[in-house]
Amino acid sequence: MSNIQPEIPSPDVSAEHPISEHWVWVGTHRPAIPRRFFEQMSRDWAPADFASVVNPAAPYTDQRRRTVGGHFPDTTLVIPTGKYKVRANDSNFRFRAGTDFFYLTACHDPDVVLVITHADNSITSTLYVADRRDHTTHEFFTDIHYGELWVGPRRGVAEAAVHFGIAAKPLEQLADDLAQRTTSRHAVVRGFDEAVDALLPPSEFDHALIENLSHMRLVKDEFEIEQLQRAVDFTVAGFEDVVRALPQAMGRGERVIEGVFNLRARVEGNDVGYETIAASGSHATVLHWVHNDGEVQSGDLLLLDAGVECDYLYTADVTRTFPVNGKFSPVQRKLYELVLRAQQAGIAAVRPGVKFSSIHEASMRVLAEGLYEWGIIDVEPDVALRRDRQPYRRYTLHGTSHMLGLDVHDCANARDEFYNGELQAGYVLTVEPGLYFQPNDLTVPEEFRGIGIRIEDDVLVTATGSRVLSAALPTDPDEIEAWIANVQSRGTTNLGLA
Ligand code: GLY
Ligand code: MN
Ligand code: MN
Repeated sequence: MSNIQPEIPSPDVSAEHPISEHWVWVGTHRPAIPRRFFEQMSRDWAPADFASVVNPAAPYTDQRRRTVGGHFPDTTLVIPTGKYKVRANDSNFRFRAGTDFFYLTACHDPDVVLVITHADNSITSTLYVADRRDHTTHEFFTDIHYGELWVGPRRGVAEAAVHFGIAAKPLEQLADDLAQRTTSRHAVVRGFDEAVDALLPPSEFDHALIENLSHMRLVKDEFEIEQLQRAVDFTVAGFEDVVRALPQAMGRGERVIEGVFNLRARVEGNDVGYETIAASGSHATVLHWVHNDGEVQSGDLLLLDAGVECDYLYTADVTRTFPVNGKFSPVQRKLYELVLRAQQAGIAAVRPGVKFSSIHEASMRVLAEGLYEWGIIDVEPDVALRRDRQPYRRYTLHGTSHMLGLDVHDCANARDEFYNGELQAGYVLTVEPGLYFQPNDLTVPEEFRGIGIRIEDDVLVTATGSRVLSAALPTDPDEIEAWIANVQSRGTTNLGLA
């Protein structure tokens, strides 16, 4: 559908039909609208039903705005959510709110801008929102972006204020309000909305603002932990869906795997938190295999790295590597057990006060020892682990952990001393070592070639240690085999595919 309409025919001018129309002009190259039609379209609509429910995240977002505002005295903070990204012509990609903006508002709508002002020892927050395009304006039916007959009713200024528990103003007022700001300093989260970026010159505080927000996001509050657990629980269900669909996933089967998981993500949550990696056979040795256009064969290991992003945009990030036919071969099991021991060592290292890098070091020690024992590296583990050696990295390829939250690689703008500092209760991170033997790697035994294994769990740092949020998915190979048999014994999915 497009909102470009055929040119209106010339009016039938005659004594019986005199031209009495007045016209509503709706833009260049667009046919004017007869006022009589506009009036017809404006009449007799019951009011849209916006329940006056306050968003459950509102008390948390309010507190976060006060906290970040408190860090920047005498400053105006501007945090836009961003705009639709064009896919082609007037078709857009699905909108996903800017992370820092969402953290401070819980608002999903595009174009909205949050302004936090810390002046005279007082912190005020205002949401600048495009007002509704309801039946009182011709945009109701002519505006493809906001018109309610095109995109459905959307919270305007009054409705947003109630729902998000924040003062709200029309978006059109943003430029004037910023021009008249009384603070001596400002900071803008840039790169999301060019028009907003242009309203204020670059500031020495711009970077401090995104650093500060990433730092705040390192420690998750109770609401965030609850949402992360929901995202993980939906993800567990998605993995079970995939296991149930495995018998259907032959042929171009990686797409079946992706599609089945992503269905769960859209049904239970907002979306997937990142592109699903459905890698069968040697595709599992490609770290971010997202083409997902390969076959799935009995005898393959399937590496599925996938996460549901819940409605509050927290995402899981879980990987399991499991046999398509339900049984690990002896070689697959041997490699798998080494990665599992490395993952268990990584998880065992997680507790408050421990350096973030300790998790990686614990996992890499186990992998280096195993690779040495198998004769794949010829350097003793203690030497191999030295920063100037690390020959095992040819097979381990990536870091073991990253922060997890609203972004899959969360808190990326936090200062290194914090991100890579000591773990604190409330951090949520992944533990995900892997071993990857490329199909053409002449340094490994032939029977290992083309096998890739990663095991990834989502782990909350607690006051005394850690809690694995994704523990409902087994990692032990016997338990994985039993899990596959059990899930499939409850029936397999008939996707209607040949
Ligand atoms: N799914 C991307 C990652 O594990 O980091
Ligand atoms: Mn990850
Ligand atoms: Mn992952």
